[in-house]
Amino acid sequence: MLNFELLGTEGHARRGRLTLNHGVVETPIFMPVGTYGTVKGVMPRDLEAMGAQIILGNTFHLWMRPGLDVMAQFGGLHRFETWERPILTDSGGFQVWSLGDMRKISEEGVRFASPVNGDKLFLTPEVSMQIQTVLNSDIVMQFDECTPYWQGAKGVGHITTEKEARESMELSLRWAGRSQAEFARLANPNALFGIVQGGMFEHLRQESLDALVALDLPAYAIGGVSVGEPKDEMLRIMAHTPHRLPAHKPRYLMGVGTPEDLVDGVACGVDMFDCVMPTRNARNGHLFTRYGDLKIRNARHKTDERPIDETCACHACAGTTDASGKTTGGFSRAYLHHLDRCGEMLGPMLASIHNLHYYLNLMREVREALDQGRFEAFRAQFKADRARGV
Ligand code: GUN
Ligand code: ZN
Repeated sequence: MLNFELLGTEGHARRGRLTLNHGVVETPIFMPVGTYGTVKGVMPRDLEAMGAQIILGNTFHLWMRPGLDVMAQFGGLHRFETWERPILTDSGGFQVWSLGDMRKISEEGVRFASPVNGDKLFLTPEVSMQIQTVLNSDIVMQFDECTPYWQGAKGVGHITTEKEARESMELSLRWAGRSQAEFARLANPNALFGIVQGGMFEHLRQESLDALVALDLPAYAIGGVSVGEPKDEMLRIMAHTPHRLPAHKPRYLMGVGTPEDLVDGVACGVDMFDCVMPTRNARNGHLFTRYGDLKIRNARHKTDERPIDETCACHACAGTTDASGKTTGGFSRAYLHHLDRCGEMLGPMLASIHNLHYYLNLMREVREALDQGRFEAFRAQFKADRARGV
C-alpha cells in the first residue's frame, strides 16, 4: 500500500504526504539509516522524540545476521527492533557492490561469499523480494546494480564508460521487471520502488527512467550517485533526473548527502533522502549546526560552556523536560569534547542524537517554508547561515 498526496509546489520543490502500511510520512523527509536493525547508538524512543517518521534497514545485512528464521519468527523487522512506524529496506544491490572482488555478477544475480562466515550465497531479484517480504518493510527497493563511478582497483582502473554504464543500467531494468513480478507473486502488501540508473550519462538516465515509468511502479528512486564521483557530477545528475519523474509519485534520492545537498535536492524535486552522514560523522566528532560544522575534537572547545548549537532543541543541546518539570540533558561543548578525548560511548550517542535532530529539523523547516510559499527565501537564508561559521 502506498498513497501519495501532492500538497503544494514551488518551482520543482514539492510538499507531499506519503501514507504507508505503518503510518504517514510528511515529505520532503530525511530517513535515518538503521542498517542492522538499529540506528547506531540511538534508541527508538529518542528517534521518536526527534520526530523521525521512517527509518531504513538493509536486506543484505539482516539476511546475514540474524537471518531469515529469526526475522520470520518476529513477523518482520518492526517488532524485532521495536519500531512501529514505517521502514524502508534497501535491496542489497548497493551492499553487494561494496563487496568489491568478493562477488560475481551474472544475468541471474550476484554470487558471493558471506563476509560473516564464508558461506556461498546467491542474491537475485527474486531472493531480495523474498527477504524484504519476510522483513515486511513498508517500502521495498528493487534489486539493482549500483553502477560505480570508477571501474577496477584504485589507481589502475578507469572511469565507467558509456558502454559499461548502459550494460549495467539495462541489467538493472531487467532486474526491475523480475523484482516486480516476484513482488506480485508473493502478494507483498507493501510498496515497491524502482531505481533509475545510467551512471553519469543523462541520456542513459532518461532511458532508464522511461522504461521504469512504463512498469508503473508506485514510486521511483535515483541510484548510482554518491559513488565516488566529483561533487559537480553528483549535482548535475541531481538536477537532471528528479523533475522528469512522474509528478504524482514519490521521488527518492539514494545515499545523499550534506545538509546543503538535501536543501538543493528539494529544489530539484526530490521528496525523500537517506544518508549515513549524520550518524557516521557523529561517531567521528563531526557535528552539524545551523551556522556550519563543528569538530568537537578541536582544543578550542575544551572549556566552552555553550551547547553544540544554541538554536537546537535536541536532548544533547537543550535537554528534555519530563511531566514533573525536571530537565535532564543539555550538555556543554566542553563536556562533549571531554567525552571524545576519553573515548566514552556517551559522546557518539549524544552526537548522533544531535546530528539526526539537525537533519530532521532541517527538513521540518523545509516543509514549513514550502507550506508558506517561501522555500526559495528559506534556501538563501539557510546557505547564508551555514556559511557564517560556528
Ligand atoms: N544506495 C545508494 N545508492 C544506491 C543504489 O544505486 N542502489 C541501491 N540499491 N542502493 C543505493
Ligand atoms: Zn542539538
